[in-house]
Amino acid sequence: MNRILEMLSGGNFVSGEAISRELGISRAAVWKKVVALREQGWQIESGGKRGYRLTAGDSLDPALWVGSLTTTRLGRGENRYEKEVSSTNTVIKEMALAGAPDGSVCIAESQSAGKGRLGRLWSAPEGKGLWVSLLLRPTMPPHLAPLITLCTAMAMAQAVRETAGIDARIKWPNDLVCQGRKICGILLELSADPDRIEYVVVGTGLNMYEGAYPPELAGRAAAVEELADRMPLRRELLVRYLAAMESLLYRLKRDGFEGIAADYAAQSCTLGSMVHVSGAVTLTGTAEAIDETGALLVRTEDGELHRVLSGDVSVRGVMGYV
Ligand code: BTN
Repeated sequence: MNRILEMLSGGNFVSGEAISRELGISRAAVWKKVVALREQGWQIESGGKRGYRLTAGDSLDPALWVGSLTTTRLGRGENRYEKEVSSTNTVIKEMALAGAPDGSVCIAESQSAGKGRLGRLWSAPEGKGLWVSLLLRPTMPPHLAPLITLCTAMAMAQAVRETAGIDARIKWPNDLVCQGRKICGILLELSADPDRIEYVVVGTGLNMYEGAYPPELAGRAAAVEELADRMPLRRELLVRYLAAMESLLYRLKRDGFEGIAADYAAQSCTLGSMVHVSGAVTLTGTAEAIDETGALLVRTEDGELHRVLSGDVSVRGVMGYV
């Protein structure tokens, strides 16, 4: 990666002198490199004595965010950034099969065949969202993989709260909602044999700007832009998400579900509410708890407790369910 871009990735001015010292080249050579970067399309402002500053818009080019990472694993493997792919989940699977390490990331500006849950399509127009997939190679048994979905929802909720001031709630298993509208969906895909996970793909689609979701979903979907106290850059959100996710995965590995359960419950809009579940099973009842494998425990009117592993869950009072 280009060291000058990395130094400028914070968005602040960095003096020509600091760059020349860091790279061990003359100020004139720094200037030549800046000119070359501009020719490649980078927008670099010269602020006289203050030095140089990157003024590129809301780009997700890894050159602009790798320098800000606070992680040791996530974002430290292979990072792929594309203008358009079919689906970042599909691309990262190909990377996994080619041997990409744990923590690798694939980001696209748009997806031509973005995948949603339950075989649905996910709309991912250019530049309108944070369409990203992570590659994990965890050592946990396959039946615990749904706990990674819980961590992902918590990490994204934390990132959105810290960078945009949005109080997002988690609708089990994998939606983030705010004011009754969905802002983010999660799609986990697993490659495993009965007792070992080969890899997990963690795909997240966060609506950032107007136009991120189809007009017919207005009222049920929202974008960060519509709800934020302060509008963050997508790369700020990404860096925060990766940091939160790494720390949650570490807690999960160290302490199991117990390590994240209370935090999860505090951010859930499902627990304690009346829910309607459709899919492999159809039932209505009160969502009482999440068990140690990430399943939802729902008590129906007859007093029976049901363990729900997946399916569509509507929560009374959230996203149109009355
Ligand atoms: C859902 O709520 O149905 C899940 C949506 C997941 C969308 C993301 S966008 C990035 C990643 N790549 C995909 O094809 N899907 C996920």
